[in-house]
Amino acid sequence: MILEKIVNKDDANKLFYIEKKIFKNEAYSLKQIEEIIFMENYTSYFIKEKDIISGYIIIFDNSEAFEIMKIGVLEENRKTGIGKKLINKIKEKEKNIFLEVRETNISAVSFYLANDFKKVGIRKNYYNNKENAILMLFSKK
Ligand SMILES: CC(C)(COP(=O)(O)OP(=O)(O)OC[C@H]1O[C@@H](n2cnc3c(N)ncnc32)[C@H](O)[C@@H]1OP(=O)(O)O)[C@@H](O)C(=O)NCCC(=O)NCCS
Repeated sequence: MILEKIVNKDDANKLFYIEKKIFKNEAYSLKQIEEIIFMENYTSYFIKEKDIISGYIIIFDNSEAFEIMKIGVLEENRKTGIGKKLINKIKEKEKNIFLEVRETNISAVSFYLANDFKKVGIRKNYYNNKENAILMLFSKK
C-alpha cells in the first residue's frame, strides 16, 4: 500500500468520485475540492494498492497544529487498517492533531479513540442539522 500526495486536477476528479461514494449528499463539491487541494495550508493523500484508490485524508495546517478535515475509506475496504495508515502518516510530524466529528458517527469516534485521540470538548449545534460535534485531540506531548 502506498500513500500519494494529491496534487493536480486529475487527482481532484478522482478525489471527488471517492468523496461522493463515501459522504454522499454531504460530500464536498468538485469546486470545493479543487480549491482545497491548491491551497497552501492543505495537504491531501490518497492511499493506493496496485494503483487502485481505497481511501484519502485531507489535512489543514494552521501552523500550530494539524486539523483533519476529512478522512474516508471505501466501505468495502474498511476495518483492514487503511484508516490507521492514513492517520499514522500525519502522526509522523511533530504537531498536535485535532478534528471535529459528528456525535452520531460512532464508527469514526471509535476509530479515533483507537488511534490515541481523546475527546476534549463538545461544539453544540455545530452542523447544519443542529447536531453536536465532538472535538478530539491527538497530543504529541
Ligand atoms: C472512520 C474510517 C476512516 C476508519 O477507517 P478504517 O480503514 O475502517 O479504519 P481501520 O481499519 O484503520 O481501524 C483502526 C481501528 O479503529 C477502530 N475502528 C475502526 N472502525 C470501527 C468501527 N466501525 N467500529 C468500532 N471501531 C472501529 C478499531 O479499533 C480498528 O482496529 P481493529 O480493526 O483492529 O479493531 C472509516 O470507517 C470511514 O471511512 N468512515 C466513513 C467516513 C467518515 O465518517 N469519516 C470520518 C469523519 S470525516
